[in-house]
Amino acid sequence: MNVEELVSALTLEEKAGLCSGADFWHTKAVERLGIPAIKVSDGPHGLRTQKEGSTDPNDAIEAVCFPAGCAAAASFDPALTRRMGAALGREARASGVQVLLGPAVNIKRSPLCGRNFEYYSEDPYLAGELAAGFIQGVQSEGVGTSIKHFAANSQETRRLSADSRVDERTLHEIYLPAFETAVKKARPWTVMCSYNRVNGDYASENKPLLTDILRDDWGFDGFVMSDWGAVNDRVKGVAAGLELEMPGSGGVYDRKIIEAVQNGTLDIGVLDKAVARILNIVLRAADLAKLPAVFDHAADHKLAVELAKQSAVLLRNLGALPLHKGQKVAYIGAFADHPRYQGGGSSHVNTTAISAMDAAIMNDRSVSYIEGFPADRDQRDEAEFLRAVTAAEAADVAVIFAGLPDSFESEGADRRHMRLPDCQNNLIARVAAVQKNTVVVLHTGSPVECPWADDVSSVLCMYLAGEGVGEAADALLWGDANPCGRLPETWPMRLEDTPCYLDYPGDGVTADYREGVYVGYRWYDARKMPVRWPFGHGLSYTGYVYRNAELSCDTMAADGEVTVRVTVKNSGAMSGAEVVQLYVADATGTPVPGGRVPQALRGFAKVDLQPGEERVVTFTLTPRDLSRYSAEIHDWYAAPGRYEVRIGHSSRDIRSTLPLHYAGAKLLPLTVDETTPLGILLADPRTAPIVRGMLDAQVQAMANGGGDGLMPPEAMAQMFDSLTLRNMINFGGPQAEERLNAMLAKLKEAVQ
Ligand code: BGC
Repeated sequence: MNVEELVSALTLEEKAGLCSGADFWHTKAVERLGIPAIKVSDGPHGLRTQKEGSTDPNDAIEAVCFPAGCAAAASFDPALTRRMGAALGREARASGVQVLLGPAVNIKRSPLCGRNFEYYSEDPYLAGELAAGFIQGVQSEGVGTSIKHFAANSQETRRLSADSRVDERTLHEIYLPAFETAVKKARPWTVMCSYNRVNGDYASENKPLLTDILRDDWGFDGFVMSDWGAVNDRVKGVAAGLELEMPGSGGVYDRKIIEAVQNGTLDIGVLDKAVARILNIVLRAADLAKLPAVFDHAADHKLAVELAKQSAVLLRNLGALPLHKGQKVAYIGAFADHPRYQGGGSSHVNTTAISAMDAAIMNDRSVSYIEGFPADRDQRDEAEFLRAVTAAEAADVAVIFAGLPDSFESEGADRRHMRLPDCQNNLIARVAAVQKNTVVVLHTGSPVECPWADDVSSVLCMYLAGEGVGEAADALLWGDANPCGRLPETWPMRLEDTPCYLDYPGDGVTADYREGVYVGYRWYDARKMPVRWPFGHGLSYTGYVYRNAELSCDTMAADGEVTVRVTVKNSGAMSGAEVVQLYVADATGTPVPGGRVPQALRGFAKVDLQPGEERVVTFTLTPRDLSRYSAEIHDWYAAPGRYEVRIGHSSRDIRSTLPLHYAGAKLLPLTVDETTPLGILLADPRTAPIVRGMLDAQVQAMANGGGDGLMPPEAMAQMFDSLTLRNMINFGGPQAEERLNAMLAKLKEAVQ
C-alpha cells in the first residue's frame, strides 16, 4: 500500500497513535497494515543509542565520539562535517537507528548558554553551511537527521517555558537562516522543534514557524518532531504543523487528538496530512534500513582524530609552538591526562577510546607531567601548585592543559560567569611569570576569559574535540599537524562586553532579544570594541598571502550574480590550510530600521596549500548576499547602491576590499503624510524631485546648509532634515494649507 492508501485504511485511533512515540526512541508500528516502527537516537556528535535489551533509555552502546559542534564548527569546513555525518550515518544504520537527532544549530547569543558546546556558531551563514554538510553526510548513508532546536532556543535557563521575544527581522536574519540553508540545501528528513516559546507561542504549536516559514517559505517536506517533552497543547500543535510528539505522553495527548477530531475542533484532513508526512519518512527509512551496513570502529576513531586536528584553533603564538625534539617540556594540568572532550546531557557519547597522555608516550615525546590542578573542580593544592611552578621554571617550555570542568558547562544549565576555575588562572599566571615559553591548551565548549592571554607565548584551543583529542593535540603541539581551525564565535575580553549581557538569560519568564541583529561580531564590530580574539581568527605554523582579489563585474543586476576571485598562497615552509573568508558590508547609507550591521559573513572556503603553492578561490554572490530582512515587506531586501566585498583571513584581518554597486530597482514602501520629515522625502528618489521642485530658493538654501548665519551650516541642514510637511503651515502664510495639500497629493501618487 502506498501512503495515501495507508492513511485511508487507518482508524482515527491509529492515526492519532502514529503521531506520538511508542517509547523514548521509537515511533509506533501498525502491524495489521505492515507499518513498521523506526528508531531515533542522539546526536549530534556521536551515536547515543539505547542498548538492545536494556530498559534504561540512557544506557547507550559504545560509540565513537566525534568533535562536538563547537569544535566541528571551527573547522570552517562543510566537507568535513559531511564526512563526520557519513560516518555517523553508517554507525547509525549498523546499529538499527533510522534517524539521528542532529545537527544542533542554535545561534550562540551569549557565551553563557550551557549548550553552546553542541551548537556551531554565532553566525547563521557558517552554521547553515556546516549543518547542510552534516545532513548530506548522514542522509547519504540512508539515515535521516533531525535538525534542532527550531527555533530561537539560545539558553538553557527555563528552557521548557521561557518566551524568546525576537523581532521579525532578527528572527529571519540571525535565528532562522541556519535552518533555512540546511532545509533548502540538504533536505533533512525531520526537524525538531524546541522547548521554548517564540513570541508568545510554544515552538511546538507555533504555526508561523512550523508551517508558514518552514513549509510554505522554505519547502520543507519531512516531518517535525517535538523535543523530548516539548508538547504543550497537542491539538494546537497538530494544527500548527507538529507531526510527531516525542517521546509520547502515555496516550494522554493521543486521546486529545481523537476528541478534537470527534468534536470538530481539529479537521481530520489536517491529521491525515500529519500522518502522511510521518509515513513518508517511516517507509523510506524502513526501506533503506534493509541495505547492508558496516561500521568500522577503528576507522571512525581515526576520522575523529583527523577532525579534531582540523578543528583546533591556534589563538596566539609568539613562537613557543611547535615544540621541538630535544626540548625539555613540562606538561601541567590534569586536562593533559583527562582532557575534556565532550559535554554533558543528551549528546553524551559512551566512549572509552579517549586518547590523552598516551599519545605523547606513544610518540616518544620527552615530557614530564605534573598535575598542578584537578580537571573536575576548582581546587588549589599548594604543594601541587608549587611543584608545577618549579617544573615550569626548570623546563624549556611549559604546556598547561586547562579547561572547563564538566560541572561548569552542560545541557540544562547556563553558566553564571565566563571564567576558568581560579586555580587554573592563578597557576597559568604564575607559570607565565617564570617561563616565557608558556603554552596554554584549552578544553572548553565556549569562550572563557583569558586574563593571562598577553603573558603567555601560545594558546591552542581544542574546544571539546571528541575522543581523538589527545592524538590531535599531540600532533598539533609537536608540529606533526598544522593548526587550521578558525573561531566560529568571538572570544570577548570579558562577559560584560557581550551583546546581551544586560538581558541574558532574562527574567525567568521572557528572554528579550533586545540586542536584535547585533549578535557576535556584528555587535563587537558595530561598537568597534576590542575583543580577545575575533570571529574567524586562527593562526598557523605557516603564512598566507592574498593577491589579485577581483570581481567579475563591478555592478550586480537585480537578478544577477557576481563572481569573486582571489589568489591565496602559502608563503611559509609547512603545508597548511587557509580559510578564506568573505564579508559583505552595506555602504548604501540608506536608513535601516533596527540598525545596519557593519559586515556579515557571506562566504568561506578552506584550501589546502603546500609550501609555495597558490590557488584561486572563487565565490558567487547573489542579491540575497547583499540583503537584510525587511519587516516592512516581510522579505529580503537589498537597497540599491554601494556595497563592499571584503576578503580576508578573519573578520578583523581583511586583506582586500572591493566596491560593488547593486543596481536593484526595488524600493521599500514609503507612507507619506503631513508628519513625514523632509529628510526622508529628500532621500527617496520617488519623492525627492517633487519636494525639491516645490521648495522656494530660501528654503533650498536652508536644506543645503545655508541660511541667515544664525547657525552653523551642518546644524541648519540637520534641522531642516527634521522639518515635516506640516511645518509648511506652522511657518507658512495664508496659502500654506493649499500648497501642502497639493504637495501631499503629488507625493502620495508618487509612492503608490
Ligand atoms: C534534548 C534534545 C535531544 C532529546 C533526546 C532533549 O532533552 O534537548 O536535543 O535530542 O532530549 O535525547
